Amino acid sequence: MEQPDIAKAARQHLEMDAFFTGDFALKSSMKHVSTKEYDLEKNEKLQKIAAVIAKCQKCELAQTRTNVVPGEGDPNARIVFVGEAPGADEDVKGRPFVGRAGQLLEKIIIAMGLQRDQVFICNTLKCRPPGNRDPKPDEIVFCQPYLKQQLEIIAPEIIVALGAHAAKTLLNTNKPIGQLRGMFHEYHVSDSMDPVKLMPTYHPAYLLRNYSPDNRRRVWDDMKKVLAELGMEMPVSDKK
Ligand code: URA
Repeated sequence: MEQPDIAKAARQHLEMDAFFTGDFALKSSMKHVSTKEYDLEKNEKLQKIAAVIAKCQKCELAQTRTNVVPGEGDPNARIVFVGEAPGADEDVKGRPFVGRAGQLLEKIIIAMGLQRDQVFICNTLKCRPPGNRDPKPDEIVFCQPYLKQQLEIIAPEIIVALGAHAAKTLLNTNKPIGQLRGMFHEYHVSDSMDPVKLMPTYHPAYLLRNYSPDNRRRVWDDMKKVLAELGMEMPVSDKK
């Protein structure tokens, strides 16, 4: 039987711990992978969609929102992170993932050797469901076209679905996130585009509530698969 490499396991455990508890900036001597050139035309198209979203009255969330949260980031991003729906902080600021879950997401992005503004971050719903309740089916149906239009413009190579709601919505399945995560699925954005690879993983808010080394490792494993798929350099400490 193969002997477990205890030193390697211990090193990985320590790295994992450092990984989610903080200070990636210090750790990242890794090179930044440059994204494609910033594309003004794409940005303009995304701004137009954001303007349409700002006026959207298609569902009841329009009555309770403070701000719409269309999403933000590099219009030419290779990776788009899709969450569930804005929470209280996002509703106030009109920006996605700016609360506690957002801070953890940003740490994950930085640990991947990227900056927040090198990816695109958005949600399946563009308005906050009151009290952070689950999205209702009609809200998902009305909001999906906005996400599809954004994805069609950005044309990312990988979509990371954060959490069960995003994964189930995008993949049109009822399978639990534990079964979906860890492998690539195909997401059909439109007939004019090849399917985009989609990696479901745990939502950062779930990770905050269930902060075990196993769960952190699972998310990091998923992100390493994303980096490998893109041919991007692994963070130095994660090279085998
Ligand atoms: N959770 C989400 O799913 N999206 C956000 O923007 C913030 C928290």
